Amino acid sequence: MEILGIDIGGTGIKGALVNVETGEMVSERHRIPTPPSRKPDEMAEVVGQIVEHFNYKGPVGCGFPSIVKDGVCKSSGNLHKSWVGVNIDELFTKVVGQPFTVVNDADAAGYASMNYGVGKGQQGLVIMITIGTGLGSGVFHNGVLLPNFELGQIPYKKYRKIEEWAAASAKEREKLSFEKWGKRFNKFLKLVEVITAPDLIIVGGGTSKKWHEFHEYIDVDTKVVKAELMNSAGIIGAAVSCLREQHHGHVV
Ligand code: BGC
Repeated sequence: MEILGIDIGGTGIKGALVNVETGEMVSERHRIPTPPSRKPDEMAEVVGQIVEHFNYKGPVGCGFPSIVKDGVCKSSGNLHKSWVGVNIDELFTKVVGQPFTVVNDADAAGYASMNYGVGKGQQGLVIMITIGTGLGSGVFHNGVLLPNFELGQIPYKKYRKIEEWAAASAKEREKLSFEKWGKRFNKFLKLVEVITAPDLIIVGGGTSKKWHEFHEYIDVDTKVVKAELMNSAGIIGAAVSCLREQHHGHVV
C-alpha cells in the first residue's frame, strides 16, 4: 500500500509516496519552501500543492513541528502563534480534500528509524533528535513511542529554549562553523543525557546529511548514531503514522 507522507518544517514542506509495508520511499521527494508567514491557511495551501503534485487521492500522513494531541496543535514551536488550538487534521482535510493524520514531526522520524532504520529492535530508551529549524525529539521505550517529548524546549542561559541556540537555524543565523555549532549541539546532547539517561541517541533531520562535518564534536557517554534514513525519516514516519494511530502508539 502506498501512502503520501508529508513532513512539515519551519523552512520546507516535503512530501513523497511511501510503501508502508516496506517503509521505502517509492517516489522522488517534492519540496516547497514554507511560506514565510508560517500561518495556518498559507501553509495548508502549500500542503495542498504537494498533494496535487503527486495527483494523490487517499489518506495522508503528516509530520508537524509542534506538540500534536488528537490532531490539535498545542504549541506554536517555530510557527506562527495562531497555530495554537488549530485542529490540524481537520484544517488540512478541509483545504486539501483528502483525510489527514497529523503527528509531531520528530515522533514521526523516530518511528521510521525504530521500524525500518538504525533503531530497529533496539530495547531500552532510545531518543531520536532531529536537527532543523528547531530541535525535535522522539522518545521510545522498548520500541513504544512516548509522544510529544519536547527536549528542544529546555531553557538555556539567556535563551527561552535551547533550540534557539543549538538548532540549524542558529547555525545559519549566526553563521557558525560546524565546529562552533557542533559544540553547541554537543552541549544540548549532554543535557538530554543528564535528564533522560538514554541507551541510544539517533540524530536525524535535515542537518544530519552533514553528519561527517560535525560528528567529531559529539562527546557524550551515550552511543550516538546518525539516522540512516536521514531526512527521509520524517516523510516515511509520517506516512506510516496513519497506521500507527490505529495501533495506539505501539510500534507495529
Ligand atoms: C517544536 C517541536 C518540533 C521541533 C522540530 C520545535 O520547535 O517545539 O515540536 O518537533 O521543533 O521541528
